[in-house]
Amino acid sequence: MEGMGRQAGPANREALGKEMKIAGQVAVVTGGGSGLGRAMALGLAREGAKVLIADVREAEGKKVLAEIQPLGGAGELFVGDVSKEKTAKELVDFCVGRLKGLDILINNAGLRMEEHEDGVYENWRCLRMRPAHELPVEEWDLVLNVNLRAVFLCTHFALSPMIQRRRGTIISISSNAGSRGVPGKSAYCASKHAVEGLMKTVAEEMRDHGISANAIHPGSRVNVDGRGGLSPDVVVPLVLFLCSQDNPTITGKTISAKDWNERKEEEQVKD
Ligand SMILES: NC(=O)c1ccc[n+]([C@@H]2O[C@H](COP(=O)([O-])OP(=O)(O)OC[C@H]3O[C@@H](n4cnc5c(N)ncnc54)[C@H](O)[C@@H]3O)[C@@H](O)[C@H]2O)c1
Repeated sequence: MEGMGRQAGPANREALGKEMKIAGQVAVVTGGGSGLGRAMALGLAREGAKVLIADVREAEGKKVLAEIQPLGGAGELFVGDVSKEKTAKELVDFCVGRLKGLDILINNAGLRMEEHEDGVYENWRCLRMRPAHELPVEEWDLVLNVNLRAVFLCTHFALSPMIQRRRGTIISISSNAGSRGVPGKSAYCASKHAVEGLMKTVAEEMRDHGISANAIHPGSRVNVDGRGGLSPDVVVPLVLFLCSQDNPTITGKTISAKDWNERKEEEQVKD
């Protein structure tokens, strides 16, 4: 985190000006079929956003779509691998055609790297940690393709409709590993460092277009696989806040959701 609380913690929210409603905004959540992506998709739908879930796994995407409907929300599913240029373009075209816009892009789809404990490792979701000299080159490529190339591709194609409408929110999911080295996770760390640099650059490029670009991370391990950690919902309040910025003040930052939530609690205690 880069001093985010000091600049834009909840205590400063009043100074940030008018907030935009999330209801009616169109959001794409890549990797929306599980974990953090599912939590963000449901959080946005609860606020009345129209949510397009983009996931390589159709069955998982359908389950989340079924959860959105009882919330009274509108949702759609796009099945595909967003690290492919053609697919990323089709995703944005599908969104603009079917949902009539694209206001929010959440670049969440990602491959994790974990200790090899149980032998169950599926390369669409999680790769085994190993030192750089032992990491197969194809696994490096796989992680960089999903965790970085896909973020670039989706951002690249989403920017045109956002620029046309002079508004947009881009949020990319990073990690603590975006600012430090973690033995065994060279590809993951490199991808998350790069994603943070990409968001900072896009933020500068889009400053006069009403479009924000930030990286956020949970702040600690999230329990997406029964191995303990924070709830995937940890990121939702921060995502909702960033998506409700009108004329965005917060852009080009990397923000820890855990820190954000803790400051909110501190603020409530003071009240
Ligand atoms: N779980 C954690 O502790 C943690 C911590 C920090 C950051 N993150 C980041 O959060 C993001 C989500 O991770 P998660 O833990 O919820 O993982 P997850 O595996 O539960 O969810 C990732 C989703 O992305 C989808 N996906 C993978 N490759 C894809 C592709 N090429 N195209 C489209 N969809 C694809 C998967 O099908 C899956 O539904 C990742 O970027 C991850 O690096 C996770």
